[in-house]
Amino acid sequence: MYALAAAVVLVAAATVNAQTQAPAWGQCGGINWTGATTCVSGSGCVVVNDYYWQCQPGAAAPSTTTAAPTGTATTSTASSPSSTAPANAGPLKFAGINIAGFDFGCNSDGSCTASAAWPPLTKYYGADGEGQMKHFVQDDGFNVFRLPVGWQFLTNNVLGADLNETNWAMYNDLLNACLGTGASCIIDVHNYARWDKGIIGQGGPTDAQFAQLWSQIAAKVASNSKVIFGVMNEPHDVPDIVRWATSVQAAVTAIRKAGATSQLILLPGNNWTSAETFVSNGSADALNKVTNPDGSVTGLIMDVHKYLDSDNSGTNTECVRNNIDNAWAPLATWLRANKRQAFNTETGGGNTASCIQFMCQQVAYQKANADVFLGYVGWAAGNFATGYPLAETPTQSGGKWTDVSLVSSCLSPKANV
Ligand SMILES: *[C@@H]1O[C@H](CO)[C@@H](O)[C@H](O)[C@H]1NC(C)=O
Ligand SMILES: *[C@@H]1O[C@H](CO)[C@@H](O)[C@H](O)[C@H]1NC(C)=O
Ligand SMILES: *[C@@H]1O[C@H](CO)[C@@H](O)[C@H](O)[C@H]1NC(C)=O
Ligand SMILES: *[C@@H]1O[C@H](CO)[C@@H](O)[C@H](O)[C@H]1NC(C)=O
Repeated sequence: MYALAAAVVLVAAATVNAQTQAPAWGQCGGINWTGATTCVSGSGCVVVNDYYWQCQPGAAAPSTTTAAPTGTATTSTASSPSSTAPANAGPLKFAGINIAGFDFGCNSDGSCTASAAWPPLTKYYGADGEGQMKHFVQDDGFNVFRLPVGWQFLTNNVLGADLNETNWAMYNDLLNACLGTGASCIIDVHNYARWDKGIIGQGGPTDAQFAQLWSQIAAKVASNSKVIFGVMNEPHDVPDIVRWATSVQAAVTAIRKAGATSQLILLPGNNWTSAETFVSNGSADALNKVTNPDGSVTGLIMDVHKYLDSDNSGTNTECVRNNIDNAWAPLATWLRANKRQAFNTETGGGNTASCIQFMCQQVAYQKANADVFLGYVGWAAGNFATGYPLAETPTQSGGKWTDVSLVSSCLSPKANV
């Protein structure tokens, strides 16, 4: 997550004409839907959930044009939408939520105030991150959490120092709470390719210092197959992407040599890990050369982020696009051509009708392309108060947890039957 000055972007209002056919990946039904209910040739209307039926290319088209979905059906037994999934359709391997707090105090220039890290655990006077994760798993079916943490917190502000055992023990409490739910858990170093403004391998920390950090973390968790290594959150304005891939290689080699030989490792590109510019700005080709010590790329997954708001910043509560044409479709093409996979470890939006619409579309597209997309992780719960515009923090009352509407409508695997 990063902050950008709001850019003014004009978006042409899409006028939906009920007489026309919905485009590929467009909505074609669902509760209260008043737009087109038939799909363009080559696509079929698939019930994604009660609120969202979608034209999916390759899905069997309805056999008659008169029995269109009514838009008020609440079951998937309506006659016209096809239940035949496209060839690459999900389920996605992972769906999850970011549990933020240990990254608080980190800025996008790679400075982090270690003492500002706020563990999202009640024993450290934070939110009940453990309860949140249990709820997300048990009530919603989520199976992965991303646990951001600042590099400075892990070494208590000393670049090149060993892990600070006191601080690691606190972070490890969150990691164990996550693992205790049965979910997979992403360790995310939330430093934007930097330590205090200096870029790793390009004037800032050396590759050796970065590798040392990952070597020590990996040694702590090497025996746990459910740990996923998020090498770095959102590199940006990195001048030399080929050189950056060398720094990523140093981290991968360190993780594998520390004994974490089979876990997933997430490889982050430039431009805030943008899914949209991952291929076009050179990150894909550069990171495609990173390998395991044995020369294979097994378990090395491309890490991509994408928000749906007007300036791509993930700071606005209204969404303007589903990112399919601009980001996910071109990325899927590259991934298939290169036999690679990607994981969308940050996405989110407000609890608004526009974000529910576009997020449901984005999730449906990822599910329809689950051969190359491992899944998504929403931003964010943990220590974010419910007033934070992108809060996915559930509220608890009388022992019962209640999700925000974006989670219950789109992100929850239960919503995406
Ligand atoms: C559908 O529309 C009706 C009437 O406007 C409204 O009361 C109801 O809340 C809507 N349902 C949903 C799920 O949005
Ligand atoms: C570890 O960090 C704590 C702050 O959380 C600090 O008080 C302590 O001195 C550090 N330990 C070492 C060995 O540097
Ligand atoms: C695109 O890549 C070049 C280096 O390859 C880098 O200098 C530039 O900052 C990148 N642009 C973005 C937006 O990341
Ligand atoms: C960075 O990514 C955003 C979209 O995520 C895009 O609007 C912007 O143009 C990109 N910058 C460059 C230089 O590629």
